[in-house]
Amino acid sequence: MADTLTITDNRTGKQYEVPVTDNTIRAMDLRQIKVNPSDFGLMTYDPAFLNTASCQSAITFIDGGKGILRYRGYPIEQLAEHGTFVETAYLLLDGELPNDAQLATWKHDLSDHVMLHENIKKFMEGFRYDAHPMGIFLSTVGALSTFYPMAKDVDDQPSRRRQSLRLISKVPSIAAYAYRHHVGKPYVYPDSELSYAGNFLNQLFKRTEPVYRPDPVLERALDVLFILHADHEQNCSTSAMRGIGSSNADPYASMAGAAAALYGPLHGGANEAVLRMLNDIGSLDKVPAFVKSVKAGEGRLMGFGHRVYKSYDPRATVIKRTANEVFEVTGRNPLLDIALELERIALQDEYFVSRKLYPNVDFYSGLIYEAMGFDPAMFPVLFAIGRTAGWVAQWEELMTDKTRKIARPRQVYIGEDSRDYVPLSDRS
Ligand code: ACO
Repeated sequence: MADTLTITDNRTGKQYEVPVTDNTIRAMDLRQIKVNPSDFGLMTYDPAFLNTASCQSAITFIDGGKGILRYRGYPIEQLAEHGTFVETAYLLLDGELPNDAQLATWKHDLSDHVMLHENIKKFMEGFRYDAHPMGIFLSTVGALSTFYPMAKDVDDQPSRRRQSLRLISKVPSIAAYAYRHHVGKPYVYPDSELSYAGNFLNQLFKRTEPVYRPDPVLERALDVLFILHADHEQNCSTSAMRGIGSSNADPYASMAGAAAALYGPLHGGANEAVLRMLNDIGSLDKVPAFVKSVKAGEGRLMGFGHRVYKSYDPRATVIKRTANEVFEVTGRNPLLDIALELERIALQDEYFVSRKLYPNVDFYSGLIYEAMGFDPAMFPVLFAIGRTAGWVAQWEELMTDKTRKIARPRQVYIGEDSRDYVPLSDRS
């Protein structure tokens, strides 16, 4: 028997057969359900897309109930343990892990695009001394659009490949420049002898030493964090990337929008918010009162809960392990005890248990970043570096999707019916 759903319209008594494919029905199939011929047809109402698949994708798989995350079929735990961010970016974009020759070419191409135009540097100098680095980051990504007008040819595959390379390659420089501007230090040019994460640390923290040598543990930890953040299917920022990209806007404009979405404290800004929350709590004895205030609706436990994960976020497990490795080098972050106590209490508390609220990727990442010497304002920028690989992979997938159309949701209109204009003198 064909896989179909039978819908009976009790208003008319009519029955409709709707095909079920990949465990979904097509919302457009509901259009046939009409009360009269002039009827527009049945729509679905799904604010915030709680139950709507907006695309088909072969990039990232998540099973939120089981805590599974895979990029192109590879479990995140294996990529984080054995892989590098650079090969993960290749995997996301191309669908397979690179062989030796492919990896060498990929690295070469990335280092070819690593420099920023000097005018970008000048552009970034225009920001106020206290500008938030994420504001600088997203504006600068948008500004890149004006430097690469060929990027507008979004139907040209080699051009798209070049823009994706540029974005993955240049975002650490933009992020580092934003940070150095924030702290009033001179900009550091990239060092192509170093790894992707190692060079980023160089661009951030190099002082007067002739050659910067990153600590290998911190370099690896940062690389792992980039891997963990690299993609997460149709989250808020990726949906923004696809939504803007669907208008054929160039990838710089689209990614500026994606980064803006990531900036929000309910998304990539959460790791910054977690750190601020832990600092506000201040000591272990204040944890129970804080949890009580969250349950009373006076705020959220930042770094907890997820739209998709209804069990432990697998990235949080890897991050917790990485945190311990980092703390061996940097010393233990005193806020860790508060975080552990929050987690301990929350995981036993009926409020969090019944709502299936578990630590997400951001609960521990901020602690690592702070221990590594980052200002909390930089946390969402660090997230954005890793996520760039996912954004461009999702954009590339969108561009090659034969069913691509401009994203344009419908609405349920609940405003006034037609009425006549009232002259100003007659208004109360
Ligand atoms: N603290 C306290 N209560 C929470 C939290 C939280 N962190 N998250 C959800 N809840 C409660 C809500 O109040 C709601 O309770 P109710 O049913 O009594 O009204 C219930 O759990 C469901 O919450 P929703 O907001 O409907 O869940 P949604 O899927 O829309 O939100 C989100 C997911 C935004 C991540 C939410 O859990 C949240 O705000 N968490 C804190 C911010 C955060 O850590 N964001 C990072 C997410 S990971 C990422 O983007 C990389």
